[in-house]
Amino acid sequence: MTKTLARSFFVLAAAASVGCTVEHQANPPLEGAGGTSPIDVTGAAAVCGNNAMIGGGPVTPPNVGVAPGFPGSPFTPRVGATRTSSDPPPAISGGTLRILKDGNTAVAADPDRDRVYVVDLTTRTVTSTIMLQKGDEPGRVVADAAGRVHVALRRGGALATIDPTKGTLLDRRNVCGAPRGVAYDPSGDVLHVACADGELVTLPAAGGAVMKSRFIDTDLRDVIVSGDKLLVTRFRSAQLLTVPSDMSNSTFKRKSLPSFRSEETRGGNAFTPSVAWRAVEMPSGGVAILHQRGFDSLVEPSFGGYGGFSPCDAIVQTAVTTVAPDSKAHTGPSLSGMVLAVDMAISADGNKVAIVAPGNATNSEVEGGEPRMPRVFETDMNSATDPVVGCRNDGQYAPCMPQGSVMGGFFPQGVSTGSAGATGAADIAPSADGGVGIDPSQQTPPVVPSTCGTIDGAQPTSPNVPKVVGEPIAVAYAGDKVVVQSREPALLEVPGGAPITLSTESRADTGHTLFHANAGGMVACASCHAEGNDDGRVWSFACEGARRTQSLQVGLKGTEPFHWGGDERDFTQLVQDVFVGRMSGPQLLPDQVEATLGWIDRQPRRSRTLPTDSDAVARGRTIFNDTKTAACATCHTGPNLTNNMTVDVGTGGKFQVPSLVGISTRGPFMHNGCAETLKDRFGACGGGDKHGVTSKLTEGQVDDLIKFLQTL
Ligand code: HEC
Ligand code: HEC
Repeated sequence: MTKTLARSFFVLAAAASVGCTVEHQANPPLEGAGGTSPIDVTGAAAVCGNNAMIGGGPVTPPNVGVAPGFPGSPFTPRVGATRTSSDPPPAISGGTLRILKDGNTAVAADPDRDRVYVVDLTTRTVTSTIMLQKGDEPGRVVADAAGRVHVALRRGGALATIDPTKGTLLDRRNVCGAPRGVAYDPSGDVLHVACADGELVTLPAAGGAVMKSRFIDTDLRDVIVSGDKLLVTRFRSAQLLTVPSDMSNSTFKRKSLPSFRSEETRGGNAFTPSVAWRAVEMPSGGVAILHQRGFDSLVEPSFGGYGGFSPCDAIVQTAVTTVAPDSKAHTGPSLSGMVLAVDMAISADGNKVAIVAPGNATNSEVEGGEPRMPRVFETDMNSATDPVVGCRNDGQYAPCMPQGSVMGGFFPQGVSTGSAGATGAADIAPSADGGVGIDPSQQTPPVVPSTCGTIDGAQPTSPNVPKVVGEPIAVAYAGDKVVVQSREPALLEVPGGAPITLSTESRADTGHTLFHANAGGMVACASCHAEGNDDGRVWSFACEGARRTQSLQVGLKGTEPFHWGGDERDFTQLVQDVFVGRMSGPQLLPDQVEATLGWIDRQPRRSRTLPTDSDAVARGRTIFNDTKTAACATCHTGPNLTNNMTVDVGTGGKFQVPSLVGISTRGPFMHNGCAETLKDRFGACGGGDKHGVTSKLTEGQVDDLIKFLQTL
């Protein structure tokens, strides 16, 4: 019964949008927000190719994919009065907590306040606070054999070394533009740092200069020592690279994680991996990767198109994939409902996994109330990586959904074996280099007793899991206990007592909050615009075609209209179409819209390793600015490097001239992601001489041009 309802809800939503009819539902406005009246709802019913998302006219009755009289998502974010920080906090990156070997000392990096806290978990006190430089944005934390703690400074471009017993900063060493992951390698007593611009850097743990720095590939994330190898994840593509730890060999193995299919998630169409938020070492060897999976088939850019109220129908879902030392990958079920899960921890015995989802920090029933969706979820590792189950909110495979809500009946929650047997087999396609292949007909889903009971949005109460009150960004195990770090307010939650206040300084910013919030349709802006930027995905939209997620670290204000086709006339229209429409969110008030655009535009940008060859950069600049042939600056002009025109440069239609600000921090490139690298933009898919005359440039000149682009 439950499943039938879930299915028909999805089908209804999908069927209603065939033909690209776009309708908006009049969701109720957010409560408690600043003073002004809600924006007019512009309902629209438009046909393909005719500015499908721009509407006018009267409010359309809420009859698309929504039960008559339905009051809106039961998971509406409540954000309170609008606050705009004059010093905007960075986007959430997650994974900033480490428990030291004594099992009692926690070291938490605070990327919002540029500090590191050392906390005694028994006495529940902050024993020291190490102040870093403004804008350092401390991230991953690792300890070495001598008890020193090393923190990657994501924007500081350095590695900070701390004595946790004395609470002092011992050292600060420059490593690369954007350090991300850091690992300690006991053989050799060295540290390996993975950098977003592609360098893998080795340096002595005891202090001293960088020993080795080698470019591996762009967008590196976490690094894990596995014998004489390093396992390195890439963030957006969620690939796993295996590199010899002495970096002697220039060849490395690249593995893409398996894709996933289940009838329980969007009717059995494939989901593919992306955005590997966090990779952790498994006690038994190998690596576990917490990542997103995105829907690979046609998405309707219409009401509920990005996700409705059933978490199994969201187009971005959370999953754990393990890769064993023999390189076999197993990908688990949809950990549905864990919106924007950015960090994961595995217990010392390898049996348990805990995951945090800051996207669920705001969806309370009433202003200031307890969120209805789980922010911390602990389950067995076996359940999180079960290859058979597709999507089940039974407290075991994914958190329970709130009960007693009007939509409660729609969730495939606590599914009995009977119905699961019919639809529960996940068909996991083998990945190009050897993921698991499972014949669905061979699989009998295990009996899963629902453990949900009478809870509201949380998993069944476990004495080892804190009831988190904040916005969780990191999680770690201290023995059996799950310890959670919240960014706002800055807290450490340890089961069995009151939260430990890390700082009383508020970093609240309504734009930041809305950007990271589950809108109601089990997806956040940050699910696709990961770390305030993009997910590197090319989505497939009905009526529109392939559309790469656009970068948001470019300075949007003044570059209207938005989207590749220029069909969103301004940010208010975009919020209406995307947040309220596609993401099933509530109406936003004008000051909330303004705060969101404000935060996106003022968010701290990611730091970079800039090209060192200034002569090449200068030559590239000359070519870029030349008005006769390359003529790049005729379109890519002004402070945002766009003239905001929608033009045909030979790539199959008219597209908005994209901003080139921070171009080296993203990729793939072009509206359909056809250019894997910047060099590829000058190849077959870049539009040829309609896109600036480049056919006469020598290879050296193209390289110079690319070096210049990397400085933008
Ligand atoms: C499902 C993934 C997804 C989600 C969720 C999402 N976006 Fe996007 N975003 C995209 C894609 C894809 C594009 C390009 C769309 C197109 O051209 O049709 C885009 C484009 C944009 C642009 C246009 C940038 C430009 O230069 O024109 C803005 C602004 C934007 N998104 C903001 C947001 C905000 C704010 C939210 C949350 C309310 C959000 N997005 C949610 C995927 C997403
Ligand atoms: C006539 C206007 C025009 C000129 C001249 C022009 N561009 Fe573009 N550029 C565009 C448009 C439009 C797109 C998007 C096309 C698409 O995605 O299909 C684009 C896309 C790009 C992209 C990909 C951006 C991204 O975010 O994916 C790069 C890089 C780029 N241009 C660089 C250049 C360089 C370098 C030159 C000079 C050789 C140049 N462009 C000349 C209009 C122009």
